[in-house]
Amino acid sequence: MKKYAIILAAGKGTRMKTELPKCAYPLIRKPMIAYIVENVRNTRMFDEIIVVVGHKREIIQDILGDSVRYAVQAEQLGTGHAVMAAEALVTDREGDVMILPGDMPLIDSTVCERALLEHHERRHDLTIVTTRVDEPFGYGRIIRNESGYLESIIEEHEATQAQRAIDEINTGIYVVRTGVLFDSLHKTNNDNKKHEYYLTDIVKIAKDDEFVLGTYFLKDSVKSMGVNDLYALSIAEAKLRLKINKQHMLNGVAMINPETITIGHNVVIEENVIINPNSFITGNSVIKKGAVIGPNSEIHESTIGENVVCRHSIVFNSKVRENTTVGPFAHLRDGADIGPNNRIGNFVEVKKSTTGEHTKASHLAYIGDTTCGSRVNFGCGSVTVNYDGVHKYQTVIGDDVFIGCNVNLIAPIRIEDKAFIAAGSTLNMNVPKGALAIARAYQVNKEDYVRTLQDRISSEKKSE
Ligand code: UD1
Ligand code: CA
Repeated sequence: MKKYAIILAAGKGTRMKTELPKCAYPLIRKPMIAYIVENVRNTRMFDEIIVVVGHKREIIQDILGDSVRYAVQAEQLGTGHAVMAAEALVTDREGDVMILPGDMPLIDSTVCERALLEHHERRHDLTIVTTRVDEPFGYGRIIRNESGYLESIIEEHEATQAQRAIDEINTGIYVVRTGVLFDSLHKTNNDNKKHEYYLTDIVKIAKDDEFVLGTYFLKDSVKSMGVNDLYALSIAEAKLRLKINKQHMLNGVAMINPETITIGHNVVIEENVIINPNSFITGNSVIKKGAVIGPNSEIHESTIGENVVCRHSIVFNSKVRENTTVGPFAHLRDGADIGPNNRIGNFVEVKKSTTGEHTKASHLAYIGDTTCGSRVNFGCGSVTVNYDGVHKYQTVIGDDVFIGCNVNLIAPIRIEDKAFIAAGSTLNMNVPKGALAIARAYQVNKEDYVRTLQDRISSEKKSE
């Protein structure tokens, strides 16, 4: 018996009032749909994960790639209609299907596992995951008979005043025997206020057909929050942020003003790390022991080594090795790989470059497309001139090189070990090992120049 997960992500998200399809919206730099798919996959309980796509489906498919199977719902005629679009992919009629909405980013694997377990243990044909909320507006309400048994789900638009007062709601997660699911769906119609095929209608249909129905009650209603508009998105993001931060703090990560700190879902942070206010760490970033991040730092898809200090800086797709200090106001990007015990200081940008040990660029430098050795000193204002307007060129710098202030290294260029480059030089030739390179105009001092000038001015004035 096969187990399928069907995730609904074909809707436009009319209430978002924007262009991007709703399920593609990011929370902490990761699309909503990616959270759900990841959580469903982490249960390891499903043979197939099917995502129903439709409106701007290429965007959703770009996000998920070939990690899931797709069913296409060409026209968005409702959630029931969306599930029907997946029917051809659900071949085992004796199997079970878990259906999840694609706009529920806070759900976790445990909820999926428990709901599936409950469905099996109680031998249900159909299990609805329900919860209670203070403000049920917008959700389908759970209708029970006098004995408390599940009867049907009534959508907000169809509900009477009395039904709207019910605070037990449909989370949008269902577990159904595949045969029961599709037989019931074929009996639905769009005879309702929205003229849509409601998935929720299968409850009453299955009940009338005398199948065994039940509910799985989710205590923590926050997890099932549906995101229908941008305000709800911000609330969901805030809740996710708090949850992630709390877990890191319990793991030994100190956070100063945690409400201003945003850590992505897949970030790994080791113990004894301190994160200062207004810091963002996202993507598959790793922060190793003893590092101090922030204030005001943004780290994405990067690895920060042990005891690194990174203040007021941006690190994207880069690596910083142990004991290095970054910032204030440094920018590392596009595969920068900074060695151990380096110092990348004020207003220094490093792009696609590597450095050895104990190398320093303390102030105002640009290092691009460069392979640099150990114990190199980049003086203030030194620049690798890597771009001629058409192509990018490489700079290679050996070990123990001293680069004076305001030096331009016009690439392609190679500076051998222990070379010394005089301040203010613009080099367009390689420098051999141990050489001093000077490439600047010689200084001329014109003695008594100022007095001569003043004398001339005053004699001109007299003659006027
Ligand atoms: C739905 C439920 C409601 C439940 C709530 C939980 C129905 C009729 N209502 O309402 O009972 O309380 O979720 O959050 O099912 N979608 C498609 N194709 C469509 C329409 C929707 O794929 O034709 C997708 C959407 O992209 C979305 C999901 O289905 O991910 C839910 O649709 P949405 O319009 O948000 O349903 P709700 O009104 O929230
Ligand atoms: Ca919704």
